[in-house]
Amino acid sequence: MRVGGQAEWLLEPATPAELEDAWRVIHERGLPVRILGGGANIVIDDGVLPGVVLTTERMRRVFRPMASTEEAGLEEDVSRGEMALPHPAEDPRLVAWAGCTLPALLRAARDLGYSGLEGIVGVPGHVGGGVAMNAGGRWGEMWDVVERVRVLEPGGGACELTRDECSPTYRNGALGGRMVVGAVLRFRPEPKAAIEARMREYLISKNSVQPVTEWSAGCVFKNPDPELSGGRSAGQLVDECGGKERSRGDAVVSSLHGNFIVNRGQATATDVFTLMEDLQDLVAERTGVQLEFEVKRWRPEG
Ligand code: EPU
Repeated sequence: MRVGGQAEWLLEPATPAELEDAWRVIHERGLPVRILGGGANIVIDDGVLPGVVLTTERMRRVFRPMASTEEAGLEEDVSRGEMALPHPAEDPRLVAWAGCTLPALLRAARDLGYSGLEGIVGVPGHVGGGVAMNAGGRWGEMWDVVERVRVLEPGGGACELTRDECSPTYRNGALGGRMVVGAVLRFRPEPKAAIEARMREYLISKNSVQPVTEWSAGCVFKNPDPELSGGRSAGQLVDECGGKERSRGDAVVSSLHGNFIVNRGQATATDVFTLMEDLQDLVAERTGVQLEFEVKRWRPEG
C-alpha cells in the first residue's frame, strides 16, 4: 500500500537459526513484536511503531528436501549435493523458508513439474504470511500443499506441526500467535506445460478484475458468510452500495474491484483507514452486513 511510518526496531534474521535466536531474545526481554513478511496484506499506521518488527525478508530460500529433512528441520544439507536427490517426481516436495516470495515458490514448483499451488498465482506475499493466513482465492489456497510447518511459539520455543495437527480455514492458517519459520510443501507431479498453462489462465482472469499493477493491500474485507450476504462477495457489496471510487485523500476504492483500496500516490495510512471505515459503514447501513477486515492493520496501540 506504500503508506505508514517507521519501526522503532527492525530485525532481519537471514536463517531459521537466526530467527529463532531473535525470537528468544525478544521474548526474554518482553518486547512487543510484530512479524513482517512481504507486507502485501498489511496497512501500517503513520508515525513510529513502538517495539520490534521482525522481518523474514532475508529468509528467501526454497529447495528440495534431502531425505533427512524429516529429522533435520528446515536446514539445507548442501554437503550431499544435487546428486543425492531422487528424481523430482519421486519426492515432489519443497522446503520454503518464511521469506520465500510466493511468486518465487510458484516458479520453482513449475520448473520442477510440481502442481498444487497454481491457484495462488499473482498473490504477492511471502510463504510465512501465506501459511499464517492461508492465502488464496477461488482456485486454491496455500494449505492445499502444506505437509508440515515449523513455528515459533508465542512463549519462545520452536516446534513442528503436521498438516493433520492444524485446522486451517478460509483465510486463516489457525496457527494462533505462532510465527512461521518455514514449511515443507507436498505437490503432485504434472507436466510443466500444463502447470504453466493453468497459471497463465488464472493470471489473465485475475488481471482483468483486480487492480494488480496499482499500490494496494489486496482485498480489504473477508467475503462474508453467504447466508448473511445473499451470496454476495465483499467486493460486490461495496460495488452495489455505490462505494466504488469513493476516496479520502489519495486513497481510492478501485473502479475495477470494490474490495480493493488503491493509493494514487500521496495517501496516508489515516486516509486508508478512514476510507475502510467509510465502506464498512456504507455496507452496514445499506445491507446490514458487517464486513470484517482481511487486511491486517498495524497501529501503535497494538
Ligand atoms: N464483483 C462485483 N463488483 C466488484 C468486485 C467483484 O460485482 O467490484 C463480483 C464479481 O463479478 C464476482 C464476485 O463479486 O461475481 C467475486 O469477485 P472475485 O471473483 O473478484 O473474487 P473475490 O471473492 O472478490 C477472492 C479473494 C481474492 C482472490 C480472488 C480470486 C477474498 C476476500 N478475496 O476475491 O483474494 O484474488 O478471490 O481468486 O477471499 C486477497 O486475499 O487479498 C485477494 C485479493
